Amino acid sequence: MVKILVLEESMLGQKLLERYDNDDIVHYTLSRFKDGEIFIQLEEPVRDDDVMVIGSISAPVNENLVKFLVCIDALRRASAKSINLIIPYLGYSRQDRKVKPWQPISAKLVANLLEAAGATRLTTCDLHAKQIEGFYNIPIDNIPIQLILGNRWCKMKKEHGTLNTEDFVVVSPDAGGVARAREFMLQAGIDNLVMINKLREKANQVASMQILGDVKGKIALIVDDMVDTGGTLMRAAEELKKAGAEMVYVYCTHGVLSGDAIERLSNDEAIDGLYITDTIDKSRELINDKINYVDISDIIAGIINAFRKSKDIYNYINEELLP
Ligand code: R5P
Repeated sequence: MVKILVLEESMLGQKLLERYDNDDIVHYTLSRFKDGEIFIQLEEPVRDDDVMVIGSISAPVNENLVKFLVCIDALRRASAKSINLIIPYLGYSRQDRKVKPWQPISAKLVANLLEAAGATRLTTCDLHAKQIEGFYNIPIDNIPIQLILGNRWCKMKKEHGTLNTEDFVVVSPDAGGVARAREFMLQAGIDNLVMINKLREKANQVASMQILGDVKGKIALIVDDMVDTGGTLMRAAEELKKAGAEMVYVYCTHGVLSGDAIERLSNDEAIDGLYITDTIDKSRELINDKINYVDISDIIAGIINAFRKSKDIYNYINEELLP
């Protein structure tokens, strides 16, 4: 039997739980030792069940990572048939290579830990770098949320009869995001792609930005996998406006939103609108005039259903979400 275990108290988790009968849900109690150690007690047997464990490895990242490891261990020792992780935001993915000598590759370490604990499959959304798939020996599905959003954007514009693709340009705020932005562009039916040459001196601090391409008189759609401090987006929007962009909108999958990012983005004058999905729960704080929250629970539920019916996840995506 396929069962659902929601490992975090989030809007996304709540919406998923509401879709399933009580019998489909694995109940558990999470408690702590006095020193903070996490303890999980499964409240029912899972022997021979295919369990889908859902939650993001977002802030508090280290806590949530350990929660996953402890939960997987409990499921494995309780003889679950398979342990299928659905981790919409996979923390530590930014550390996917050594930028300088003497550094860790923490994304690989996390892959080792999840596998060693007993995970048998991983589904995640818009991985920071596709190469991370190669860090895993178990099957991994990387759900292309940006593609799906590009497709929906196009449909929405067509429905409103306001799609004049020549008015728009899709912008990647750095070299690493070009492939992702290009996929969004193709789904949205837009022909113009611009890249920003972003240089950082250290993590989370943008040193310089240079726009490669023409944005004069256009509506710029910045496509990025994540917003953390907001520094990249705010600087990109500022430079795009200086270069003559009429308006700047942002489509971003993961709202990491550390520190006062929400406030700073809300007050930013160069950004006209921001769309962030609920892969990270903080996104629910975002609903205001400028910042819009995109619910992806239907996509995740569809993936769980595809798994239930033994349907290939990519066939499901192509047939149902990218028709
Ligand atoms: C960079 O490679 C990512 O795609 C994001 O652009 C970056 O992580 C965002 O960070 P911040 O919001 O702190 O500039």
